[in-house]
Amino acid sequence: MATSTRRDLFLVVATLFTVGLAVYVANGHENLKVSVGLSVIAGLITSQVLPKLKQTFVNARLSGVDVLKKERSIIPETMGLPTAIIYLITLFAFMPFPFFAWFDGKARLVHEDDPMIGTFPYHKLGEILSAILAIQSMVLLGFADDVLDVRWRYKVWFPAIAGIPLLIFYYTNFGVTYVVMPIQLRPYVGDLVDLGVLYYVYMEMLIIFCTHTINILAGINGIEAGQALIIGLSVIINDTLFIFGNDDRASVEAHLFSLYLMIPFVAVTLALLWHNWFPAKLFVGDTFCYFAGMTLAVVGILGHFSKTLVLFFLPQIVNFLYSCPQLFRFIECPRHRMPRLDPDTGLLKASTVKIGGKKPVSALGKLMLKFLRAIGLLRVYQSNAQGDILECNNLTLINLLLAHLGPMTERNTTVSILIVQILCSCLAFFIRYKLVTLVY
Ligand code: UD1
Ligand code: MG
Repeated sequence: MATSTRRDLFLVVATLFTVGLAVYVANGHENLKVSVGLSVIAGLITSQVLPKLKQTFVNARLSGVDVLKKERSIIPETMGLPTAIIYLITLFAFMPFPFFAWFDGKARLVHEDDPMIGTFPYHKLGEILSAILAIQSMVLLGFADDVLDVRWRYKVWFPAIAGIPLLIFYYTNFGVTYVVMPIQLRPYVGDLVDLGVLYYVYMEMLIIFCTHTINILAGINGIEAGQALIIGLSVIINDTLFIFGNDDRASVEAHLFSLYLMIPFVAVTLALLWHNWFPAKLFVGDTFCYFAGMTLAVVGILGHFSKTLVLFFLPQIVNFLYSCPQLFRFIECPRHRMPRLDPDTGLLKASTVKIGGKKPVSALGKLMLKFLRAIGLLRVYQSNAQGDILECNNLTLINLLLAHLGPMTERNTTVSILIVQILCSCLAFFIRYKLVTLVY
């Protein structure tokens, strides 16, 4: 089957699955029906608008070289920006609906006649406003990164800054900072442990983690939008499992809120992936990685399921931990660590790094490499008579996969990583709904 036909088939199946899931979820929830309707429109607009903006972005020098193609063509980058803008407009359009009972032209803040409606839910308005502000700030900082190519030592803190509005809302509305302890630890520390200010540190770390880990599992067509799409769909499935058959109103409300944010996110991401899929017509840019990471972190925090969210980030956690020796400069970290193209075969191979090439490697760096080699997580390409590693694969999940499975086309490499992402989501559901009873 031709590549483009396969791509269309994959995306059509993904679209049908998403719309089907969303319609099923919305059953019985009026606001969700509105959200699904607006999301379908947002997805269609995104898929139509992105190709029209390509030349404008190239003219503005918002473009990049498609490194893993023989032609090395220049294609528009930062397409996460229009995607995020359409997403935000969708949220703006949706905002009045949860407050419809108050739009009766009487400008009242209390429904004396109907106690079921009661007083205007300012906390709900605050919740959605803080979410929008955090996502919007992250998009702005992501765009700054795409335009200015900010150094990692500065940009690593961007998500922490953008997350502040969210934490202020959390502090003034929920303020819950205790965590439920595993059964095994309860005799020693009690059922609940109040983390206090550490809980806010945890939330900041979660935001930093979600945004940057998507950005470092990157560099091949379709991977950034693909992983965000699968995590988004996993969150939607998790919300659905909670909403149906759950009588706890607070819990249902939290997961409905998550769906209001996730359904349009999945819709616009799917449209973006459509154009970013191999062979990519555009790049998503850091703007998209930050936008996606922040949106997912926001729903995890405000929906009170941050631990489950972390489980959906399993491949990103592995990729981050595996990357640590390079990220923290124990061994050299080149500007780009994506795989390399073999021009003779057109297949991707793991990219490599020369150890001690530019500056001598520390004893700790050597130890880390030896450990990774011992547990089979390192492919050594060159070593000296003393057994010192002189060249090995760059420490990313993509390179590890290629080093173990052998050369692959760029498309198949993306598909393999996305299959890993789907399998990890299945594992996450198993842990969350089956294994969890052993611990909680
Ligand atoms: C992160 C990674 C870097 C990886 C890069 C790829 C770390 C610490 N940084 O850096 O190793 O090489 O992402 O995105 O892990 N590109 C392609 N094909 C694609 C996507 C991107 O060729 O499908 C290239 C384009 O030239 C594009 C560039 O990668 O312009 C984008 O890189 P950028 O997002 O600026 O890199 P970082 O996020 O800083
Ligand atoms: Mg990037």
